[in-house]
Amino acid sequence: MQSFTYFNPTRVHMGAGVISKLSEELTAHGIQRVLLVFGRGSIRRNGVYAEVLTQLSNAGVEVVEHGGVQGNPVLSHARSGVALAKEARVDAICGVGGGSVIDEAKAIAAGAASNSDVWDFFSGNASPNQVLPLFTVCTLPATGSEMNGICVLTNEETQEKNALVKPGVLNPTVSFLDPHSTMTLSPVQTAYACTDILSHVMEAYFTAQTEWLPLQDNLMAGVCRATISAMDGILKKPDDYDARATFMWAATMAWSGIVQAGVPGTSMPCHALEMPMSAVYDMAHGAGLSVVIPAWIAQATEGHARRIRSFFKTVFDVDVPGMTDAARILRAYYQRIGSPVTFAGAGVSNPDVAQLVLLAAASFAQRGMTDYTTERIQNIYEACLQ
Ligand code: NZQ
Ligand code: ZN
Repeated sequence: MQSFTYFNPTRVHMGAGVISKLSEELTAHGIQRVLLVFGRGSIRRNGVYAEVLTQLSNAGVEVVEHGGVQGNPVLSHARSGVALAKEARVDAICGVGGGSVIDEAKAIAAGAASNSDVWDFFSGNASPNQVLPLFTVCTLPATGSEMNGICVLTNEETQEKNALVKPGVLNPTVSFLDPHSTMTLSPVQTAYACTDILSHVMEAYFTAQTEWLPLQDNLMAGVCRATISAMDGILKKPDDYDARATFMWAATMAWSGIVQAGVPGTSMPCHALEMPMSAVYDMAHGAGLSVVIPAWIAQATEGHARRIRSFFKTVFDVDVPGMTDAARILRAYYQRIGSPVTFAGAGVSNPDVAQLVLLAAASFAQRGMTDYTTERIQNIYEACLQ
């Protein structure tokens, strides 16, 4: 097992009605003025916005609104959030929505506590050492952002989509996870979420640097089996509370670093390949993953293939003789739940592969992953065309 340090300062309230604890948490933290960050309308439609406003009012907190966060959040909107937070002198950020809202809220929490331009944190020119306290109400379980120290932002001028990783610093202070708030997610949004949850675990499981880790492998397989079974439950009955709750906590488990701790060589190549896809074509992150992961698997090296075989046996209970078999089975699963497996299926009929290769190659180079040559990257993207 690889040595590691694990620290996660986020307090999580999970279950039906937990948003009602927001006011006492704000009071306990001495918060007086918040920037309320949210997206493009889903929280108004499902009643979460009204619930949160009641809590803010109960806590006697002044509210400055910063709505309109888009999926795959962009730098210009985060910058305006930082300016607003500074101008209004808020003492906390409250992010209410999915991963995009929570990620932008994190970027604002970091930018508002610093004199650096917020993109400097994402380009590696600066590192946030302190952030404003962040309270999140998660309405889309997928990214794990509600309990991790990561946020992802797209610079729409350069089309770079970069992750800022600062565990222990960027983690929300308190997160509220009410499965009821996820029941308005459509089947396809839930399918994208499922793809993302599974990918966070699979990318670690597929490491080429170990044979078998008794604890981590069982944890990872358990999270995936529970996610798959909860997804089936949700497809049958979208308001199945237990299925929604299992799905929600599985998302948090999958990408808060717990199941991956101690696993060597977790380099997330499929995420590196997906980021340019959702940056250039604004596709859902989960949709991009279900397109690119099978293509990556079909071309996996023998080191990864050993672990891929073991994953398919443990999670899907199938023997996969070759990697094309594994890719075929995974594509069939994604199609069954409603996530696309080609660029065209994701709404991009004629992608600019050369541009995607350039962006992905720069990202692999930045991570020091020199085995991802431009030729290898191009072959994977081309396999996503059909
Ligand atoms: O615009 P709003 O109103 O927020 O609507 C959203 C959006 O249209 C909607 N939605 C959210 N909750 C809902 C709902 N609709 C109905 N009912 C609800 N309860 O869903 C749409 C997608 O939301 P979004 O937040 O964009 O999705 P997701 O949670 O998948 O977040 C994706 C972003 O997170 C990044 C991705 O790259 C992408 O930018 N990631 C962040 C990670 C992290 N911080 O650790 C890791 C991930 O691998 C990922 O890269
Ligand atoms: Zn992801």
